[in-house]
Amino acid sequence: MTPTATTYDFSTRAIHSAYDRQAHQGALNPPVFWSSTFAFESAAQGAARFAGTEPGMIYSRVTNPTVQMLEARLAELEGAQAALAFGSGMGAITSLIWTLLRPGDELLVDLTLYGCTHSLVNHFLPQFGIVTRAVDFTQPHELLSQLNHKTRLVLFETPANPNMRLADIKAVATLVHSHSSALVAVDSTYCSPYLQQPLTLGADVVIHSLTKYINGHGDVIAGALLGSAELMQQVRMQGLKELTGACLSPMDAYLVLRGMKTLAVRMERHCQSAQWIAERLAVHPAVAQVYYPGLPSHPQHSLCQQQMKLPGAMIAFELQGGVDEGIRFIDALKLFTCAVSLGDAESLAQHPASMTHSTYAPEERAQHLITEGLVRLSIGLESADDLWCDLQQALKRQHRL
Ligand SMILES: Cc1ncc(COP(=O)(O)O)c(C=O)c1O
Repeated sequence: MTPTATTYDFSTRAIHSAYDRQAHQGALNPPVFWSSTFAFESAAQGAARFAGTEPGMIYSRVTNPTVQMLEARLAELEGAQAALAFGSGMGAITSLIWTLLRPGDELLVDLTLYGCTHSLVNHFLPQFGIVTRAVDFTQPHELLSQLNHKTRLVLFETPANPNMRLADIKAVATLVHSHSSALVAVDSTYCSPYLQQPLTLGADVVIHSLTKYINGHGDVIAGALLGSAELMQQVRMQGLKELTGACLSPMDAYLVLRGMKTLAVRMERHCQSAQWIAERLAVHPAVAQVYYPGLPSHPQHSLCQQQMKLPGAMIAFELQGGVDEGIRFIDALKLFTCAVSLGDAESLAQHPASMTHSTYAPEERAQHLITEGLVRLSIGLESADDLWCDLQQALKRQHRL
């Protein structure tokens, strides 16, 4: 087998690409390179590596062979020229932003963002002279009205955390590229490359929190950017090396590589269970509204069918009775764990307004379309029957139905 052959299916490449077993004495799994620094054969070679005129290792904040293998495999799966791994998803986002934006530049973002991304772009970047404009990316004319010659970066999530709004990646990228020189970055964390590949739809950069589905086992914090080789090299030598230092440990890179081997089978199972559960929640009398793009009632159900292979495994919903009932429901769950994060084998439940999205002021949540009573579920890999029994008992208990 040629390990990197792009003719192989996704699941084969997730297991075999970017690793040459013969170069490592036939070891089935790659070694972990525990080294902070790397020897140069001469001072001239060291200088050439720093200048970027010769490839090779320098120092593990910049790159490391185990991390490099993860980057190559990620790029292979996402259809990118290059990838860059980080010590967290937030490390990836901050490294991109600090590399690209200068005082006076503008950043255009969607209304709904993960809580820490929201805080970074709407609360902190303005302190550094960067203007953030937040608009509804489901309405392209609004996007157009805020785009101008100062816009340097356009950033959005699809599906958006936590309310499951989708943005049309192809439409946004086409509009932005035909009216500006801004780069389009898509946080595709909710999908992983198995469900959605934004670069093929015209985006310039893909962001992943590898902490979620790509690692998939809840034991690593990691992130990645994917895009052109030129941009990734710029972010590596500026954002990663000098501006954030948010590098990934080689052991964590190894764990993500191990998790990725089962990405395809995990995503199929996650999505199958989520669809089944969302359909049942949608007709439950205690539930006021379910937001899951696999349901025909979701306003962007047809967009989901166009740009996502499957609708994912995150479900947001509101209970009759609002926030108080939502909190009581979470506390009544027995098999679901009350915890932030997503994409793990364990099913998780949380209350965005008081947890992941507590970085928004209450009035900001209202402006940014995040309701106070929203409950977020990450459907794991347990039996869907067992998960539904747990949800039912928590709904019954709280609503005495
Ligand atoms: C959509 C999204 N992007 C980025 C992040 C940040 O990732 P990390 O926790 O790995 O820093 C998260 C975390 O929940 C997320 O949900």
